[in-house]
Order: sequence, then structure tokens, then C-alpha cells
Amino acid sequence: MPKLNENYQNVKDSYLFAEIARRVKVYEETHPDKADQIIRLGIGDVTLPLTKSVIEALHEAVDSQAVSETFMGYGPEQGYEFARKAIADYYARNGIEVDPAAIFISDGAKSDTGNITELFSNDNVVLVPDPVYPVYVDTNTMDGKKIIYMNGTEENDFLPMPDDKVKADIIYLCSPNNPTGASYNKEQLKAWVDYALKNDSVILYDSAYEAFITDQDLPRSIYAIEGAKECAIEFCSLSKTAGFTGTRFSYTVVPTELVFTASNGATLSLHDMWNRRQSTKFNGTPYIIQYAAARVFTEEGMAECQQNIEYYRENARMIAETLKKKNIWFTGGVNSPYIWFKCPKEMESWEFFDYLLENAQIVGTPGAGFGENGKNYFRLTSFGKHEKTAEAMKRFDELF
Ligand code: MLT
Repeated sequence: MPKLNENYQNVKDSYLFAEIARRVKVYEETHPDKADQIIRLGIGDVTLPLTKSVIEALHEAVDSQAVSETFMGYGPEQGYEFARKAIADYYARNGIEVDPAAIFISDGAKSDTGNITELFSNDNVVLVPDPVYPVYVDTNTMDGKKIIYMNGTEENDFLPMPDDKVKADIIYLCSPNNPTGASYNKEQLKAWVDYALKNDSVILYDSAYEAFITDQDLPRSIYAIEGAKECAIEFCSLSKTAGFTGTRFSYTVVPTELVFTASNGATLSLHDMWNRRQSTKFNGTPYIIQYAAARVFTEEGMAECQQNIEYYRENARMIAETLKKKNIWFTGGVNSPYIWFKCPKEMESWEFFDYLLENAQIVGTPGAGFGENGKNYFRLTSFGKHEKTAEAMKRFDELF
């Protein structure tokens, strides 16, 4: 009989967004007359199509696959040189130097933040903010690693800071944060880098929402902080930046400076380990997708993405205005596509989820799905269409 990974008994039966989809389906089945009125502002899935440059590039790449001279088979597991260089150039335009050789192209920040746990032995202490993107907690729970939490609360603007009394080997940070939208400034990030360097810890930094930052003083990469290359891996994705949720493209930066001493005294490089892992278990993101993604990182490509992001910001403003009018405490929506607010009527978040679905046919994300500290909060995304977001806010206004 196989011995199973019994740590799976310690995760909830289903992943947060799968559970939301299940509950919505039940509602649709039991209320067929209301099914077509449902407005989905739950999972952060984009609604605008891919940009013009991306579509052009996709067509070019597809055509090139029809001709033997330009046909591409297996590519490098780390990603094509042209795509890694395009990402490094994008970093450079933001004033950050990243070696293309440190960049690994993949199919999602979700996959990479989940898979990276393999590089670390299971007796590490993992420090995770609460509330936070549930993938970090679920994947480390599946490994059986010890997780400790740091509190994000209204008092600290949902930006927990390092505590010298707490020792952690691996630290997850997500900024701009999913779900709260809170973003670390340079001084705060420097405190984290200093902590990691002092304690020989590694920071796993998720910057999937960097393109949503409007405040020019906020860092868009942890590598904006001196010393970060010696202690941090950065994950980023085009899902939200360029509407690639269905197209799939992400990148992970593992600097060669990240070296640690093994228990037998050997020096191990996280870059070499990740390279070994990816070349063994991954055959690369499709050429066609990498070709189109490279277009996103050009100045013109990014300007088009920013137009779409501006469209979503307008939705965020609509949501924020409604919450202000109703005197409901909220944060986010300025440097992030998410708005995080206190559940009205002192409801708990799953109760509020049901209430909102039942009475206004609006789907959101209950804060409890992101951690204990989220249990009285709720998240709405600005990724909907204008008309749907406006209609949702009209219903919200009438309901409260
Ligand atoms: C979310 O809604 O939190 C995200 O869309 C989930 C993800 O990026 O995997």
C-alpha cells in the first residue's frame, strides 16, 4: 500500500476559489431565475481582451509555426533568451538591474510560488502574513512545513513588519498585497531585507500586482532595495498586468547571489537548484506565448497594458465611492486592483458572502479565505466590466 502524503489532511477540502465557484453553482441551480443576474467580482480574473500588440505577436508566432524554417520544438526550460532579455529591459526601465540569466520563465506565479517550496527542507519555519494569498499557506501545509503568522490589521495598515523576537527561515511577502491592496514603501521593505540578511532567511516576494502601482515612490520590485539579491526571490506574472490569466506567462527571478550552506558544509545555490528543478520537471512556456509576452515588455506594449489597467482603476474608483458613501471602512484600489472592506452589519465574511449573493447577486471573496484576520472583511475585484461594476454598486447602494 502506498504511504500517502498525509499533510493533505491538514488543508481545507477545496481551494478558496474552487469553493466560491462551488457555492455560486449551487446558488445558480437553486435559483435558476436569478442565475443570469449574477455579477462576478470574486476571483481576480480580467475581462478585457488581450492588447493589440499581443494579438499581432500571437498571429506572427502562430504563422511562424506553419513554416519549417521557423518552426520551434522544445525550447529552453528557463525560457527563450529574447523573452528573458525583454523582462530584464523592463526592469532596467524601472531603474533595476536584473541579469537575464537569473530570470526563469514559467506559466504562473501560482505554480512557481507553490513549487518553490521543494527547494527547502520541511523543517524550516515559514513566516506568512495573515491575511494573504492562500497558495502560500496551502502549499507549505501540503509539505508539512511549520507555518507561523504575522498579523495584518487595520492598526498596521495590513503591512506587518519584522519582529526581531520572531525567527523565520522563509518569509512570504506580497506587495501590492493580495487581498488587501496594501503596499510596502522602500523603508518598510528595507526593514524586511535587513531582517532577512541578519537572520539568514530567504524572502519569497510576490510582485504580481506591481503594474497597478500609481504612487511613483513605491517600490515595484524588491530588488529596488540594496542587498535584496542576497536574500530574495521575486515572482511576477502577466496575468493581471497584461490580461494573461488564460494565456499563461510568469517569471521568477532567482539571483545567483542567493547561496546558503548545507548541513554537510557544501555551498548550495538556489539559482542552480531551481534551474535543476525546472529543467527536470518543466518543459517551458510555449514559444508562441513567450513571443507574444516579449511584446508586452516593450514601451508600446506596456503603454497598452496601462490603458487596460486604467479601465480597471475606474472600476476601483466606483467601488470606493460607494463604500465611502455608505461609511464602510475600506482600503486598496489605488495601487492594486482589489478593494478590501469591513463587512457591514458586523457580519462574518462567509455570512456576508451568502447575504450579498442572495440579496444582490454579487459574488465577492470572503476575507476568511485569506486568513483568520480576514474573517470580518471582504474583497471585491476591479477586474469586471464597467457596466457590471456600476450595476453591482447600484445594487450594493440599495441594499445597505
Ligand atoms: C485572486 O483572485 O486572488 C487571484 O486571481 C488568484 C490568482 O492569481 O491565482
